[in-house]
Amino acid sequence: MTSLQHVNPRVSGIRVSAHSTLQSLAAHITQQIMTGAQKPFKEVLDVSSGDPHKTGMKPISFVRQVLAVCLYPQLLKDNSLPLDVRLRAQRLLEICDGQSVGAYSATSGLLHVRQSIAEFIMRRDDGVPSYAEDIFISSGSQRALMVVIKLLDKGGETQTGVLTPVPSPHHLPIILDETGVTPAPYQLIEDQGWAVHLEELHRALTAARRRCEPRAVYISNPGNPTGHVQDRKSIEEVIRFAAAERLLLLVDEVQQDSVHGHSREFISYKKVLFEMGKQYSDTVELVSFHSLSNACMGECGQRAGYMEVVNMDPEVMLFADTVLCADISTPVIGQLALDLMVDPPKPGDPSWDTHTQEILLIRTTLSQNAQRAQQFFNSLPGMSGQSVMGGIYLYPRLHLPSEITEQAKVLEVEADVLYSRRLLEEEGVLIGAGGTTDSYHLRFCILVPPHTLEEVLARISSFHLRLWADIRTLTEV
Ligand SMILES: Cc1ncc(COP(=O)(O)O)c(C=O)c1O
Repeated sequence: MTSLQHVNPRVSGIRVSAHSTLQSLAAHITQQIMTGAQKPFKEVLDVSSGDPHKTGMKPISFVRQVLAVCLYPQLLKDNSLPLDVRLRAQRLLEICDGQSVGAYSATSGLLHVRQSIAEFIMRRDDGVPSYAEDIFISSGSQRALMVVIKLLDKGGETQTGVLTPVPSPHHLPIILDETGVTPAPYQLIEDQGWAVHLEELHRALTAARRRCEPRAVYISNPGNPTGHVQDRKSIEEVIRFAAAERLLLLVDEVQQDSVHGHSREFISYKKVLFEMGKQYSDTVELVSFHSLSNACMGECGQRAGYMEVVNMDPEVMLFADTVLCADISTPVIGQLALDLMVDPPKPGDPSWDTHTQEILLIRTTLSQNAQRAQQFFNSLPGMSGQSVMGGIYLYPRLHLPSEITEQAKVLEVEADVLYSRRLLEEEGVLIGAGGTTDSYHLRFCILVPPHTLEEVLARISSFHLRLWADIRTLTEV
C-alpha cells in the first residue's frame, strides 16, 4: 500500500461529488471497452462538462499555428504558414524570457499579454478604462477564483461566506469546500428562465448572516448551467445590492462570447458599473473572470484564464500576487493563446477569413444545437426545459415518477444522479445531474459536433422511452 492509498475520503473530509463519481464510472466503462468487454455501444460520449475539444470540436487554426511556431521556432522560415502567423509568433517569442516558451513568466503573467487583455476589455466595454496592472493571469479561471476566495477568508472564529447560485457551475462547491468558505445559497428562478432575483438575494443574505459572515456574491453570466443571460436592469440591481451590503462581486463571465439568439446581448458587469456613476464605479469591489476554456476557443487543456479586479485594496492585490506565486508561472503557451484570443487577426490579415469562418461555425453550431436539443427534451415525456439565451449548457428538468425517486432513496442517491448513472451504464452517455434541492435536472453541454449531438440524443431517447415504458408496465401490473 502506498502512503496515499490509506486516505479514506470519509475520514479525510474530502467530499466526492456526484460529478466525479459519474466521471469515474465513465472512465471505468471506457477501460472495460478497451480491454474487450462487450457493451451495446462502442464508446462513452461525455456531454457532462464544458470541454468542447473532448467531444470533437475543432481548435481555431490561427491559435494552433502561432503556438506551433512558438514551440518550434524553426517554423518561422516555413513559407507554407501565413505571414501574419509567423510575424505574430516572432512578436510573442520576443516577449518571452530567453525568447522561449520554456522560460518561466512573471507570477501575474506576461506584461504584454496583460496589456492585450486590458485593450480587449476596453474595446468590449466601449472605452471604459482597463489597466494591465489590474489583470492577473492564472492557470484557468477556476484557479483565479480560488485565489480570491482564499483571500476573502479572514480566518478566526467567524466563518466567511459567499452567496452562491442554485444551480451553480459544478466546480463552485468544490472550490468553496477546498477553501473552507461557507456557501450561502440563493435560488435562481426557474420559471423566469433562471433569472437572478433581488428579493431572493436579500433572503439568502439574511439567512446566511445567522451562521457566517457573507463577504461576496458569486454570479455566473451567461449562466452555467442555466443558459440565462442577465439584462442591464438585473445587473444594476445586483450591483446596488452588493454596494448596499458591502459585498465583493465575483462575476464569472467565462461564456461571454456565447450568447445565442437575439433576445439578449452580453453586457459586462464592469461596463454597467462604470455607467452607473462614480458613486458605484469608485466604490464597488468587482472581480471578473474570463478563460481560454470559453466556447469559441475551447482550449481547456491549455489552462489559462484571467481576472480583472476593480476597486481592490492595493494590499489585497499584493496578496493575490503572493498567492499566485505558489504557482510560480501560468503555462506560457496558455498565456500566449490568451493573447491570440483577445487580439485575433484583423480585416486584411492573411488569416482573417479562415479565422472569421471558424468562429462563425462554432457560434452557429452552438445556437443550432441549443435549439435542436431544447426541442428534443421538450418532446420527451417527463422532461421540460427553459429556453436558453447563452452559455454552453442546457439544464432540462426531469419529472421523475415515484418508482424512480423511491428506488433512489433506497440506494441513497439523488434520483437525477441515478437516472444519469443508468443512462451511462445502458447507453454510454455521460450527462451531468443534480444541482438543485427540490427538483431534478440534467446538465448537458451542447457544444459538440452536430453528428455527435444526434448520436447522443438518439441514445438518450432510447434509454428514456424504455425507462418510461418499464414504469408504465410496472404500474399496470
Ligand atoms: C462558468 C464557468 N467558469 C469557468 C469555466 C472554465 O474554467 P477554467 O478557466 O478554469 O478552465 C467554465 C468552462 O466552461 C465555465 O463555464
